Amino acid sequence: MIFLDNAATSYPKPESVYTFMDSFYRRAGVNPGRSGYDLCMEAGELLDGTRKLLARFFNGTDPNRLCFTSNSTDALNLAIFGLLKEGDHAISTTIEHNSVLRPLYHL
Ligand SMILES: Cc1ncc(COP(=O)(O)O)c(C=O)c1O
Repeated sequence: MIFLDNAATSYPKPESVYTFMDSFYRRAGVNPGRSGYDLCMEAGELLDGTRKLLARFFNGTDPNRLCFTSNSTDALNLAIFGLLKEGDHAISTTIEHNSVLRPLYHL
């Protein structure tokens, strides 16, 4: 198969992603931070480790300030609605993706 929509979905993913996620969901796919049982603690440690890796990757100073979202649209909505306030100016272009333009037009 030749998949031409890769930027939107990151499909197919590297084999290591499938291997890790399969193992994660089978081993510790519970809700991290919800309780103190072993699996929950393990999931929480994986999450903390991921936060630290990403903070280092992005040169962040505090891993706890990282915010995971379900997709880019969700992240952009959070950033745009969270940062802009009445009277602010946002500079964009008409060829910007809908996930940026729609919240801007809404504001
Ligand atoms: C440039 C750009 N921004 C944002 C998005 C939205 O991403 P998501 O599908 O993760 O919400 C896309 C998706 O194709 C995109 O191409």
